[in-house]
Amino acid sequence: MAEIVIRNTNERITGEEAVQEFLAKQEVLYEKWDVTKLPEELRENFTLNDEQKAQVLSTFDSEIKDLAARRGYKIWDIITLSEATPNLEELLAKFEDVHTHTEDEIRAIVGGKGIFIIKGSDDLGYFNVELSPGDVISVPENTPHFFTLMENQQIVAVRLFIEENGWIAEHYDDPSFVKA
Ligand SMILES: [Fe+2]
Repeated sequence: MAEIVIRNTNERITGEEAVQEFLAKQEVLYEKWDVTKLPEELRENFTLNDEQKAQVLSTFDSEIKDLAARRGYKIWDIITLSEATPNLEELLAKFEDVHTHTEDEIRAIVGGKGIFIIKGSDDLGYFNVELSPGDVISVPENTPHFFTLMENQQIVAVRLFIEENGWIAEHYDDPSFVKA
């Protein structure tokens, strides 16, 4: 279950209803997948081979097709990040840059944890969305954000795209963003 931290006040929002209400207000799509559908050996497995990645995608085939039908996604894949990922620290350093995309950025977390840092309404400022397995989130197009891992530095997520170049990151210069 996702949890929210408002960066300016350190207020934490927990509980399904409150989280859903907060994200809906910020126009961030938030849904759930049932990750218990995953075969045991694919759960919390951060070194999936190609065959296992295909298995994860086929496990969630109906959920993916449903999202695609509602929201226009045409391609999808699986991303895994862990200590086994070459140059993980370098990669994460590169991620930590506030940016936008011309299409929405949707992720379904199927293992591990991650955080989206998103620019909310002007009165609110930036907020963190801490994601756990089963959380499906979409950062709206043209909304400044970035993604990083949590302390365990492990994640498996399904990504969906409308078109391949819709995901190009455009750096967003924001003096109001405070990192820590
Ligand atoms: Fe992004």
